[in-house]
Amino acid sequence: MIAKTSLLFGFSLLAIAAPAAARECVQSPGRTLELCVSVEGGEARYEVKRGAVTVIAPSRLGLAFAGEADPRYIGLGDAKRAASDMTWEQPWGEQRLIRDHHSELRVTLAGDTPLSKAVGVTFRLFDDGFGFRYDYGAIPAGQAVAVTSDHSQFRTIGAYQAWWYEGLGQERDEYLYTQTDARRVTLAETPLTLKGDNGLYLSFHEAALLDFPSMLLAGDGAGGYNAWLMPWPDGTLAKKTGPFTTPWRTVLVGESPAALADSRITLNLNEPSQLPDVGKWFKPGKYVGVWWEMHLEKSTWGSGPKHGATTANVKRYIDFAAKYGFTGVLVEGWNKGWDGDWIANGDKFSFIEAYPDFDLAEITRYGKSKGVGLIGHHETGGAIENYARQLDDALKFYADHGVAAIKTGYVRHSGTIVDGAGGQQWFAGQYAVDHHLDVVRRAAKHHIVIDTHEPVKDTGLRRTWPNWVSREGARGQEFNAWGNPTNPPEHMTILPFTRLLAGPMDFTPGIFDISRGGKELTRRVQSTLATQLAEYVVVYSPIHMAADLPENYEKRLDAFQFIRDVPTDWEVSKTLQSAIGDYVVVARQQRGKGDWYLGAISDEEARTLEQPLAFLAPGKRYEAQIYADGPGADYRTNPEALAISKRVVTNRDTLTLSLAPGGGAAIRFRLLD
Ligand code: NOJ
Ligand code: CA
Repeated sequence: MIAKTSLLFGFSLLAIAAPAAARECVQSPGRTLELCVSVEGGEARYEVKRGAVTVIAPSRLGLAFAGEADPRYIGLGDAKRAASDMTWEQPWGEQRLIRDHHSELRVTLAGDTPLSKAVGVTFRLFDDGFGFRYDYGAIPAGQAVAVTSDHSQFRTIGAYQAWWYEGLGQERDEYLYTQTDARRVTLAETPLTLKGDNGLYLSFHEAALLDFPSMLLAGDGAGGYNAWLMPWPDGTLAKKTGPFTTPWRTVLVGESPAALADSRITLNLNEPSQLPDVGKWFKPGKYVGVWWEMHLEKSTWGSGPKHGATTANVKRYIDFAAKYGFTGVLVEGWNKGWDGDWIANGDKFSFIEAYPDFDLAEITRYGKSKGVGLIGHHETGGAIENYARQLDDALKFYADHGVAAIKTGYVRHSGTIVDGAGGQQWFAGQYAVDHHLDVVRRAAKHHIVIDTHEPVKDTGLRRTWPNWVSREGARGQEFNAWGNPTNPPEHMTILPFTRLLAGPMDFTPGIFDISRGGKELTRRVQSTLATQLAEYVVVYSPIHMAADLPENYEKRLDAFQFIRDVPTDWEVSKTLQSAIGDYVVVARQQRGKGDWYLGAISDEEARTLEQPLAFLAPGKRYEAQIYADGPGADYRTNPEALAISKRVVTNRDTLTLSLAPGGGAAIRFRLLD
């Protein structure tokens, strides 16, 4: 599956040993970025410039271990350089072909402690950012070590704004972002995105988070950010066995928000796919589900007269899915354990015992006869031990019934964390990181894909494990059912440049009944109907839900047509115009077809955007099917006003997008010739 269309340099060809020196530098392939690493005053440091502008001022490197003092570094040596320019293919994705074009510098830091006497650091520089990781290859095989500090730093200079939320004591990543002076960041989840007065946009994150705790960033009040790893209950950060490498610490660097959104560094710093035949057993697609009705309290997850997951109700959804071309039906609340306070009692969930009014065999038989697959559901309530114990049986149970996708969930009550070995665990500490990958790997053996809710943040592992098909991991649509307040309009204009930089999100767009009988603004969806459609393009995920109730779609078949048409797999994706927190316009070309789709979303302001269609193929005509905010549309007073129109366009045209307050536009460009 991996197509190497060009491989200019193999690492081994260019690997050149250099004599020991106190400073080594490397430039990105187009000389946009330069990084230097040095050892001075006992510290190992790196710094990064973009032209004359300092992106990262000298910042510390290295880990510290239990039983040893903090290492002092005394030398820098063994510098090896390499370069790569190759292209690889995703089985599905926001972009089919991904170019990996980077320069590499690998140095060895000589420290004065036994565990840090030879620390490899590999830097990879791309023109739109960089990553580095540590290689503790000199620790003898099998030696157990405990990481007690990560000294990695990211020091910026000058004035920046940051989009972030407080990461301390949080049980998941479902919060609204605030925009502040970046020096006010206390402890932030990554991706942490900054905009500088110098015109630069930066985003700090990590790639290939494997068998290591998730990294947050602790602000030092002066523009510097220190790695902060989610600990084990005993305070240890990571428990490792020698030799080992760490995840990549990454920084995206660009002159526009689009440069961040269209960067592919996170994927490029992950290993190639372990599942070369995944495309044979899973196809991207759209689904509906027994879901929103529970969030609206029209039915219940638990048993009783309002139980949602009944065989009859699921068949109704299967009929709807089959009629309108959806390939999946999600069913939550089918298994025993939902009665009472399920969040507090996750250890009561059974993943193989259905409620008596839910007949899995009959449902999957019925679905199959109509070409609709069941999307399974495993809510754990954060009780990981209970889930892990049942996992093999639970996967086999679904696999035996032909279920090819499972949504998992790790809801906890506020302020609590997941259970696990040794007591209460951080939701993305090393224990949870390992658990999530274990689920994905075991699911792959059954040809099942996983969509994790309340997950560990994405770090591009979908390249290696494409069956980790999507995740939630941000304040999604569910908050628009019961959130207090619900998501304000600007949320959708911040996500593309923060959470969505990490990877796909199962946001569950497409709520058509916005006003819900005149509900108060901050207790319902805060957008127009056109925005709900635009979300299918702006948010990338190989699986997207049409989240509303079937009856609400049947009332608006005109608007529903866009959801039916929009694909979830793309040849190319481009962020066309944007200002973080204000608006975003994204275009994507359907994979395997010439059609393009565009999604535009505004914050609470009305705005008019001129959008050149230069991204369309030259010399071709397209029918633009435009789903725009209708006359008088306003997310506060008239959210469902929609104007649908058609016109023929070419790549020489410019469209004027008139976005209402909280509004948007969704366009399909159907290739005519
Ligand atoms: C939280 C998930 O995000 C949501 O989609 C799901 O319905 C509930 N947990 C129940 O599992
Ligand atoms: Ca959630």
